[in-house]
Amino acid sequence: MVQLTPEEKGMLAGSLGEGVALAMESVVRVAEVLGAPRLVKVSSAHISGVSYKNLGEEGVEFLEELAAKGARFSVPTTVNPAGFDMEVYREMGVGEEEYELQMRIVRALASMGARVTLSCTPYLINPPSFGDHLAWAESNAVLYANSVIGARTNREGGPLSVLEAIVGRAPYVGLHTDEGRAPTVVVDAGGVRSFVERTGAVSALGYLLGAKVKAGVPLLVNAPRNLAHPGNLRLFLAAVGAASSIGMVLVEGVSPEFKRVEGLKEIALEEGELERVLDKWSGEAFDAVVLGCPHLSPGELAELASRLGGRRVKGRVLVFTSRWAVSRAADAVEALRRSGVEVYADTCMVVGNLSALGVRRCATDSAKAAFYLSNQGYEVVLAPRDFLLKAVLSSQR
Ligand code: F3S
Repeated sequence: MVQLTPEEKGMLAGSLGEGVALAMESVVRVAEVLGAPRLVKVSSAHISGVSYKNLGEEGVEFLEELAAKGARFSVPTTVNPAGFDMEVYREMGVGEEEYELQMRIVRALASMGARVTLSCTPYLINPPSFGDHLAWAESNAVLYANSVIGARTNREGGPLSVLEAIVGRAPYVGLHTDEGRAPTVVVDAGGVRSFVERTGAVSALGYLLGAKVKAGVPLLVNAPRNLAHPGNLRLFLAAVGAASSIGMVLVEGVSPEFKRVEGLKEIALEEGELERVLDKWSGEAFDAVVLGCPHLSPGELAELASRLGGRRVKGRVLVFTSRWAVSRAADAVEALRRSGVEVYADTCMVVGNLSALGVRRCATDSAKAAFYLSNQGYEVVLAPRDFLLKAVLSSQR
C-alpha cells in the first residue's frame, strides 16, 4: 500500500484537474507494482524516447491528450534527442510530413512546459545537486546523475517520466533510497588499468563492466586514471548503461558516495575480455566517423576544434551535440565546419537516420553507439577518439 500525503490524495481525486489525476493514478499504480512505500518529490524530470519513430501515433496522441486535459509539468523538464536536427532536417533527408509529426511531439511537450532541449545531457544543461531526487529517463543521464553528482534517480521509462514530471514525484524505491544505493559487487579494474590508460579504451571498459555485472550497484576499484576526464567518464557510463540495467557505478576517485565495503563478491576485469569487446567492433573500413554519444559538451567541441587546428578532415566526420552546446561553443562549431566536420544538434547517430545521410559503415568512440548501430544493421568500428582523429587527419584517407 502506497502512503500518499493529503496533497497527493487531492491530486489523485482531481484537485488539479483531469490530466494531473490521470498521471497520478499511473504513478501510484507503478509505485504499487514496485513495492514503494510512498512517493518522493523530484526536483527535475528528463523525458526520453521522443522521436516519432519511437512514440508512434498512439504515443503522440497520448501526449496531446495529456496537454489538452490541462496537464502541465510541475518541475523543470528536459527532453532527449529527436529524430533529426530541427534546423537542417531537409539536409538530413527528412520530408515535411516527417518533420510535422516530430513537431506535434515538440509542441505537446512545450505546451506542457518542457524545455525542449533535445539532448541526452541534461546534467550539463540543468545540473542537479548532490542528494536531489530526479525522475530521469535516458540511461547515460541517469548513470551520470547517480554516479558522478550523487543525485538520485531510477532508470525511468520515457512514458513514466512524462507522468512523473506532471505530478513532480516518483516512486520512492531503488536508487532513491540509501539501501538501493549500497554497492552490491566490487569490480576490480586493476588487470585492465594500464591497457585502458595506454589505449584510451574507456568506452569498451564500460561495456565490459555492464556485460559482466548486468544489474545492481558496482563499486569500481583501481579505475584507470583517464576515466576521470569528463568526456571519458561520460563515454564509460553510457556504455555501462547500454550493456546492462545498472543505474549507478560507484567509481573510486570520482563518485561522492564511493566508500570501500568489506565482504562483497569481487569480479576482476581482464585484458583478454576487453580485447574481445574491441574485436566485436573491429575493422579498417568506414564511410564516416561519428562522434557525440552522449552528446558532446561545449568543452569537447572546443577540444575537437583545437585538435583539428584548422586542418581539413580527409573523410566524413559527423558530430552530434545539443543546441545548448552549439550556442555555447559557437566559435568551435564554426571552426569544425570550416574543417569539413558536419555538426548536427537535436538528434544523434542512433535516434536519427545515418543511412539517409549516406552512411552505412561508421567508426565511433562510443560503445553505446556501436551497440545500437550494429543492432540497426550498420557495420561499426569502435576505437578511441584520438585514434579516429588521427585517421581522418592522415593523408592516407
Ligand atoms: Fe545520447 Fe543518442 Fe547516445 S541519445 S547517449 S547520443 S544513443
